[in-house]
Amino acid sequence: MLSAYVFDAYGTLFDVHAAIDRHRTAVGADAQRFSELWRTKQLEYSWTLTLAGHYVDFSKLTERALDFAFARFPSVDRGLRAKLLEAYLTLDAFPDVHTALTGLKSRGARLAILSNGTPAMLGSAIEAAAMQGLLDGVFSVDAVRRYKPRREVYALVTEGLGIEPSDTGFVSSNRWDVMGAVSFGFKAFWINRSGAPNEYPDQGPEREIPGLGELLQAAL
Ligand code: 2OP
Repeated sequence: MLSAYVFDAYGTLFDVHAAIDRHRTAVGADAQRFSELWRTKQLEYSWTLTLAGHYVDFSKLTERALDFAFARFPSVDRGLRAKLLEAYLTLDAFPDVHTALTGLKSRGARLAILSNGTPAMLGSAIEAAAMQGLLDGVFSVDAVRRYKPRREVYALVTEGLGIEPSDTGFVSSNRWDVMGAVSFGFKAFWINRSGAPNEYPDQGPEREIPGLGELLQAAL
């Protein structure tokens, strides 16, 4: 049994589309595309700024990406801005999260989160999902001011928990994050909820599963 399981936050534990879902009627017909663009731009900014040697925290990138989405979809009421950002602080946890975390914990694994999110964003989401008691660590990229998939980010976990990469399961629904984790030496589990095509053939996961509900059976 691996000694620790580390989870990506946004998209893996927390549903990034829950903010729009809560205001779907008010957002209107473009809600789905608006939500997808918001997420795409948020991640794009994290990669491009890191490549150029800059750092702006994830809370600000989330705001900037939202503003881009408003500009791209003028039909969406900008008066929703504050409500959407507030909803982003308490995104719904996916329904299979608690079973997976409690199951691994009862087998003796240490559990942690490693995320692009700021400590404040993560604290708020974890509290809303009543997850505090299950976690042995919450690691934010803020500590190294660089985003995933930089190696320094994944090293926060091994240094923070005092474990070897090869003794760590890394769980993410983001295939590019799995690529980064495998490059670092983690044993990665790709949560492929949408049945997305595989990518990064040279940095494949240990296991690909359709949801966190399958994690206990797949666990190493
Ligand atoms: C996270 O680090 C990648 O957004 C994702 O939580």
